[in-house]
Amino acid sequence: MKSSAMREMMALTERPDVISLAGGLPDTSTFPPELYASVMADVAHESAARALQYGPTEGMTATTHCIAEVMAAEGTAIDPSEVIVTTGGQQVIDLVCKALIDPGDVIVAEAPTYPGAVPTFSAYQAAVEQIEIDADGMPIDALERTLDRLSSEGRRPKFIYTIPNFQNPGGVTMSLARRRRLVEVARERELLVLEDNPYGLLRYEGEALPTLYSLDSQAVGRVGAADLVIYLGTFSKILSPGLRLGWAVAPRPVLEKLNLGKQGADLCSSPVTQMFVAAYFAQGRGSGTGWLEYVEKLRDLYRTRRDAMLSALEEQFGEQASWTRPEGGLFVWATLDERIDTTDLLALATKQGVAFVPGRAAYMDGNSGSSSMRLNFAGVTEENIHEGIRRIGKAIRTQLDLLGSLSGRPAPARVGPEASDSDARPLADVVALPRREEPRAGRRSQDR
Ligand SMILES: Cc1ncc(COP(=O)(O)O)c(C=O)c1O
Repeated sequence: MKSSAMREMMALTERPDVISLAGGLPDTSTFPPELYASVMADVAHESAARALQYGPTEGMTATTHCIAEVMAAEGTAIDPSEVIVTTGGQQVIDLVCKALIDPGDVIVAEAPTYPGAVPTFSAYQAAVEQIEIDADGMPIDALERTLDRLSSEGRRPKFIYTIPNFQNPGGVTMSLARRRRLVEVARERELLVLEDNPYGLLRYEGEALPTLYSLDSQAVGRVGAADLVIYLGTFSKILSPGLRLGWAVAPRPVLEKLNLGKQGADLCSSPVTQMFVAAYFAQGRGSGTGWLEYVEKLRDLYRTRRDAMLSALEEQFGEQASWTRPEGGLFVWATLDERIDTTDLLALATKQGVAFVPGRAAYMDGNSGSSSMRLNFAGVTEENIHEGIRRIGKAIRTQLDLLGSLSGRPAPARVGPEASDSDARPLADVVALPRREEPRAGRRSQDR
């Protein structure tokens, strides 16, 4: 097992002096405390005994109906009896691996991929093939070439893992043509697809695209009955990650195995928070203050913060850097001058009071993506976005200066408001050249 860089980063988010652009945090301060109190009071008055009791492994019926409502808002019809309520979407990834993966089995994933899936895949000893994404998500022709190669080696992936909307960490969205082709390829080759979609409803511009689950259902010819796509959803980003509630909608045989796996993991997800969701959805119905209105508020807020981050990047990151412009979600993926290792840069940046996720966390080999970083714009104020990016920009310039002096080559031309900043700090304890091997056990990722 390996530590998730992201989890370690969470420790940093607790430090008040650090602006954390690292975690996948939504802004929970936007949820009205009075509403939280009144929904909890409803649960307490109307169903305290049930809330405090164990619940069914597959989840409470009222909660699965809320899930069907969320999926309908995504344009995806489902049958609530094909849902399993889980302890966050994270548990879906774990249960799918638990059900399907023996050591050495192949998973095909995107490159970069969700940093939280990396330690899960690695704990189940999967052999993960990562396919480099571009502005339209995973290129399906590259996927097909990989599948052909695997097939010539007598290997068959257990599933293809994709985050089609506002990918974490890449920020890009899979095009409609690729979605259609991915479902066709899955059907031609009878391969399962795990569609991880926490962010679909957090779209700030452009047209919503159909889920892979709905495209597969169409191909089957029966609404709400995909037979190769396992859909992962979560309340974390549209309501609260503290509830720890997610779900899978899956073909029946897979669903049964997920259920068995969940029995062994935690028996059931919290009835307290499942009933919170049911009461929250019920309170909002017809009142104009429902869950969708809240999501609408989040979209407006996060759109502004995304724009703030894009303009701060424009001001602070040099010519050598490039970054994605996400149409939704929580993250921008930035790639720097190739000589910069963002794991080392993070050590310097945290000293300057800012954190991000280094790119390596999104690759199974722990080595690729070393010049990239994931930046969250949703969980911090506009002011802190500007200040955080300013601090990272400064750390980059310091690093480039040092690399220039070590190599004897001049540092590349600098841009940004601090181009003449002369307070470069001593970096002997920070910069590691040449690149390091695998981290030794027990070391924190930001020390690497
Ligand atoms: C792509 C993706 N999948 C799954 C999750 C897990 O979320 P949770 O367990 O909070 O539902 C996240 C959280 O950031 C994510 O970004």
